Amino acid sequence: MAWRDLFPDDDYGFRLTLRRGDPAEFFAPTTAHGKICDERSRFLATAPRDYAILTPSAVPAWSEYVEQARSWVGSPLSDDPVAIGGQLEPDVVLLCRDAAGVFRVAGGVVVFPSHWALADKIGLTLLEVHGVVPGLNDAIGPAIDRYLDKIKPGFAAGRPNWGLAATDAWNLHPTTNPPPLKTGLGTDRMWLRVERQILTPLPQTGAMLFGIRIERHRLDHVLADPDVRRRFHRAISTMPPAVSAYKGLADVAADLLRASS
Ligand code: HEM
Repeated sequence: MAWRDLFPDDDYGFRLTLRRGDPAEFFAPTTAHGKICDERSRFLATAPRDYAILTPSAVPAWSEYVEQARSWVGSPLSDDPVAIGGQLEPDVVLLCRDAAGVFRVAGGVVVFPSHWALADKIGLTLLEVHGVVPGLNDAIGPAIDRYLDKIKPGFAAGRPNWGLAATDAWNLHPTTNPPPLKTGLGTDRMWLRVERQILTPLPQTGAMLFGIRIERHRLDHVLADPDVRRRFHRAISTMPPAVSAYKGLADVAADLLRASS
């Protein structure tokens, strides 16, 4: 894990830091494949419509994605979103251009969201999706759109995102009622949730594929490294209160500062 990318030696801010990504590496099975896919299949079997959604406009892009995914992982995969959602570890979102050429969320399979639901994002532009994140659009909204317009098929961009949770559950869909971060919770009962993301355009349909992988790290283990601890402290101490509230950290911000000082 590139902790320095996650916690730059700088005040907290939204940045469009993208590095070259590799879809074959991103979609490749890890050593936890069985456990992750069992967990994904369990939720997909219980509430498929909460996790796998394909609008009619996304059907051609979905077929193209499945073809690409087969070549990335080199093994047979189902065409069905619910089935493939239990065969591959990452979550995927497809963005398709509308009549005006603007990317909108058109479908995907998201079983391990971080406190959001795919169903709530269907039909939205990225500016609309990110509208709930205080200050994000003002800082980098137009830059994200410009980037998506110029990224060429065959190229993949990767970026990380982080949050904290009071559970190591992979799935934090709102219907699972994830526990809130409450003051007094030790860092041994908090998890740093890292989202590794990849963005790559699909050459035939022109749709944008957005992949998300979740990693969980116990916070006391993360903060054992003095350099990471210092960077984390700076991020928490300079985070605007509205962002801290959005990330569910308001109640534990003082605890986090103490634990990382
Ligand atoms: C390349 C550019 C992108 C950047 C820099 C970016 C950045 C971010 C950041 C910083 C957050 C807040 C997360 C947090 O702090 O906890 C966020 C949330 C989110 N982003 Fe992005 N994002 C990008 C692209 C995308 C794309 C392509 C999608 C596809 C749909 C997407 C979907 C979301 C969703 C669903 C959320 C959660 C919103 C919620 O809480 O309801 N993002 N993004």
